[in-house]
Amino acid sequence: MTVQSAAPLSALSLQSERPRDAPLVDALIDRAFGPGRFTKVSERVREFATFAPELSVCAWQAGRLLGCARMWRVRVGGKPITFLGPFAVEQDERSAGFGARLIDRACQTARAVGETHVLLVGDAAYFARIGFVRVTAGQVVLPGPVDPRRILVRALDPRAGDLAGSVQAA
Ligand SMILES: CC(C)(COP(=O)(O)OP(=O)(O)OC[C@H]1O[C@@H](n2cnc3c(N)ncnc32)[C@H](O)[C@@H]1OP(=O)(O)O)[C@@H](O)C(=O)NCCC(=O)NCCS
Repeated sequence: MTVQSAAPLSALSLQSERPRDAPLVDALIDRAFGPGRFTKVSERVREFATFAPELSVCAWQAGRLLGCARMWRVRVGGKPITFLGPFAVEQDERSAGFGARLIDRACQTARAVGETHVLLVGDAAYFARIGFVRVTAGQVVLPGPVDPRRILVRALDPRAGDLAGSVQAA
């Protein structure tokens, strides 16, 4: 179902996350995921990953935070890469393309500073439309159980090669 958005795509302002944005971003993430998010394997990654606010994106419209995509630095098999999440759009603003815009901006920003891959755990049904593919089964090892079909990657540099190994601290 397509929901009518209150904010036109053109009115959206995409900006890096600033320290003062953190409480609003945290509240949006809490509303979108609820307390169950802390059990996810992505949270285990974020316990050792290095937060990258300059790569994280906030979507604003008239001073209201509509969405966010946080980015982190990790290593996979020794290779430095970025890990994306949480990623959320306010319920009343979904299905207007804001999510895809957020992910695109996060990937563009990462590519501009020389990052080679964006890794995430999510639904292929959503992320395949915006450039993510499944990693080969068993090739990327996360710090906990996860459906391997949910481990997705977007290569930012076609020469960077595949990812292989455990996800570890940057
Ligand atoms: C996922 C999310 C950020 C997408 O934001 P959005 O602004 O609605 O995204 P877009 O407008 O780019 O895409 C919307 C489309 O994706 C679909 N979609 C959303 N989540 C999906 C999922 N998990 N699997 C498959 N399709 C999904 C929507 O149904 C919608 O389809 P439509 O265009 O036919 O209506 C938003 O639904 C959200 O915040 N969900 C709760 C938190 C969450 O699940 N985050 C992702 C964790 S990996």
